[in-house]
This record gives sequence, structure tokens and C-alpha cells, in this order.
Amino acid sequence: MALICVCSPKGGVGKTMLAANIAHGLQRAGRRVLAVDLDPQNALRLHFGLPLAEEAGFAAGMERQVDWRAELRRTACGVSLLPYGALDATARLSLTRAIEADPERLAAPLREAAADPGLTVVVDTAPGVSRALFAVLPLADIILVPLLADGGSVATLPEIESGRFFGRGTMGTIFASKMRFVLNQVDQGRRLSASVTAALMRHLGPRLLGLVAHDEAVAEALACEALLADHAPRSRAACDLAEIVAALDAALPAANGAQGMLAGVGR
Ligand SMILES: Nc1ncnc2c1ncn2[C@@H]1O[C@H](COP(=O)(O)OP(=O)(O)OP(=O)(O)O)[C@@H](O)[C@H]1O
Ligand SMILES: [Mg+2]
Repeated sequence: MALICVCSPKGGVGKTMLAANIAHGLQRAGRRVLAVDLDPQNALRLHFGLPLAEEAGFAAGMERQVDWRAELRRTACGVSLLPYGALDATARLSLTRAIEADPERLAAPLREAAADPGLTVVVDTAPGVSRALFAVLPLADIILVPLLADGGSVATLPEIESGRFFGRGTMGTIFASKMRFVLNQVDQGRRLSASVTAALMRHLGPRLLGLVAHDEAVAEALACEALLADHAPRSRAACDLAEIVAALDAALPAANGAQGMLAGVGR
């Protein structure tokens, strides 16, 4: 029904933090949510409290041509999770070759999930471009790009806005129209952060969905393998994320609770 793809040309900007916490927020807002990890770092699962030792996942299953539904995990907060899984370097390369040869291996399950009328899908991706990113982008209702409130992140904006990252053709124009930004790790007490924030607020206008403060509680929640709204519900960043979730919830098609073919997912 609705798909949000969290992506960025740059690493370490908060993609996984954002994907995990908006999936949780949208589920708390009454939606049925599936969180999908397309990043070989396999880190999304940690936000949902899956054991570190748990290695199963979507990618390893794809190698063995297992139905992706068999790899779904029901998390404690109610969000359904499709972890990437742990793959060694050789298996990763062989999977990349298999997807190059047959992109439908990856695109078909994502399309099936996105077609479920009552499901909201949140996808976390690896930094930069990948086959996986280009399989998911055409399905996205919202392409959510976190930026850090620093000079390095600002430098990636021309790459995004010129189409170098998402493509310059008609598809690139469509992707650009779906792009929304979140400014992460904002620290109003620091001169550079405050002036980058002010400049980006002016430049992005309504494409900026919200700001997330730099907040120790974010890293602490991850260290405890917990979601921020559970770990530190009154923290600055949790309040900021709640505002971003409300903006996303309003921008997405209404949750109608319709039962699709994945009716068990997220219930
Ligand atoms: N608002 C914040 N305040 C403090 N720390 C944060 C904040 N957002 C993210 N972090 C921390 O920054 C680090 C990077 O975040 P995260 O892993 O979500 O980025 P990423 O874009 O997914 O990285 P990668 O490109 O490696 O996938 C993590 O340690 C996370 O806890
Ligand atoms: Mg990540």
C-alpha cells in the first residue's frame, strides 16, 4: 500500500536509525508495518532487539531461493522485520551476480510486499548506489534522505539534486518529486550545525520533513538494542522523530487495515 525507502549517497547519516524508528512510530500510529533491511551490514535487526547471534535473513534465503516470507520475524513491538541476514564476502558477491543476472529475484518480493493494500513498508538501504536501491526506488511513495547538519552532508546535496545519484532521466525526475529530507544530529548550540540547519531549512522548504537533534539517547537506545520511543520516550530525539512520523503518516495513503495476501505480516 505504501513504501518508504530510506537512502543516501553518504554513509553514517542515520538511515538505519530513521528506518527503525519511523517503522515503530507508524506501527504505533495504527499501521501494519513491515521493515525491510537491504543493507549487508544487517544492522536494522539490532534496533528491534533481535539477538546478535541470529544470522538468518532475506539475502541468505534469496541465495537458496527460499520464499522471503519464511525469513520474516515478528518483533516485540509488533513490526514485522525482514532482516538482511549474515552473509560472508563470497556469498555477497555471488548474490550480487545473481541479482545482476536476474533483478526480479529482489524486485519481485519487494513488489509483492508493496502491493499489499494494508501494509506500510519501510526499507533501509546500504549507503550509495546498489542494485537493491534501484529495485526498490520505483516502488517508493516516499524517498527519505537523511542529511547531517554538517558541511559534508551539504556537499552531497548537489549530487542528489543534479540527478547524479538517482539518475537524470524521466525516472530520476519522478524519484526527485518523491524525495523528502530529514536533517539529523542537529546541535543548535554549535555554530556550524546551527548555520547549516538554517541554510538547509531555507533551501529545502517543504521537502524538509523535520529535524532530529543530536542526542546521546539515540546511541544509548541502539546499545541497549531498543527503539528510542521505548528506551527514552521523553528524549529530544524521540520527540523530533514523533513529529516526523506524524508528517509521514499524513503524507501516506490512510491506513485502511485492508487484508492483503500478507495479512499475517505486522499483526
Ligand atoms: N540524532 C542522533 N543523535 C546521536 N547519535 C545518532 C543520531 N542519529 C544517528 N546516530 C548515531 O550515528 C551512528 C550512525 O547511524 P546509522 O547507523 O543509523 O547511520 P546509517 O546511515 O544507517 O549508516 P550506514 O551508512 O553505515 O548504514 C549510529 O551510531 C547512531 O546511533
Ligand atoms: Mg545503516
